[in-house]
Amino acid sequence: MNQTPINPNKALWEKGDFTEIATLMRHSGEAVVKSLGLRPPLRALDLGCGDGTTAVPLARMGAEVVGIDIARNLVAAGNKRAAKAGLNRLKFQEGDACNLEGVGDDSFDLTLSVFGAMFAPKPHDVAREMVRATKPGGRIVMGNWIPNDPTSFVSQLLKISSSFTPPPPEGFVSPMTWGVNSHIVERFGQAGVPKEKISMDKDTFYFNSEDKSPVHVVESFRRFYGPTMNAFEAAEKNGKVDELNQQLVELAHAQNTSTNGGTSIPATFLRVTVYL
Ligand SMILES: C[S@@+](CC[C@H](N)C(=O)[O-])C[C@H]1O[C@@H](n2cnc3c(N)ncnc32)[C@H](O)[C@@H]1O
Repeated sequence: MNQTPINPNKALWEKGDFTEIATLMRHSGEAVVKSLGLRPPLRALDLGCGDGTTAVPLARMGAEVVGIDIARNLVAAGNKRAAKAGLNRLKFQEGDACNLEGVGDDSFDLTLSVFGAMFAPKPHDVAREMVRATKPGGRIVMGNWIPNDPTSFVSQLLKISSSFTPPPPEGFVSPMTWGVNSHIVERFGQAGVPKEKISMDKDTFYFNSEDKSPVHVVESFRRFYGPTMNAFEAAEKNGKVDELNQQLVELAHAQNTSTNGGTSIPATFLRVTVYL
């Protein structure tokens, strides 16, 4: 019997439940959307949308929004949120940022991807697909974590996690390369966009919880965030669970600015804007 081969990218994000992490990100998701200065009517694509941290506020401000994500559970969670909020011009669907099958050329005024498309395995295909799906005169906006930046919380969390995980397969391109200016220029360049049309600025995203301490936040990543779940599974085999946990808790404590027992972690990211 023929079986569909497992797509490791999809399996990674369906493994956990990113909705549990996304609850820490709602405020900044709204702030990112607000900062775009959009004037509806417009059609927006949110790529790697999860359960709608940015897709929901985009729809609330009047855009017609399609959220595309590779994880079936997150698409279902997004559609549930949209229905609950009565947002009938917001639809979530399954799809792969490397190949936006079924999405027509020049379909969207805005293609947004906040820590989403950066996790797709074929970055050149992703850049080409984002350019293809966006109308001339439209905009692509990406939020990407920055490698080796001590203030880019998730990049540090992933760096620690990967140091406990077996090396990736040959040919694996790190998602963190989307946080490096030269890669961005090269990838969009191959998709036909000259570098003068690309702006790259550092910005800050917040992981906030009034009632979860940094220890609880790390616990959430351990239970619900695919890459960290994998790191704990590998650490368990090597008897290194406590070491991994301690490093992550130290990181979260060091970055936490809350003084009331909760968590507020400012995380630097690279905001990429491509003008088509
Ligand atoms: C860190 S989460 C961010 C989710 C959302 N943008 C947010 O800010 O809450 C990364 C998201 O990218 C999605 N993703 C990963 N690889 C993808 C791909 N190849 N195509 C589409 N979505 C992908 C994951 O399923 C996950 O929802």
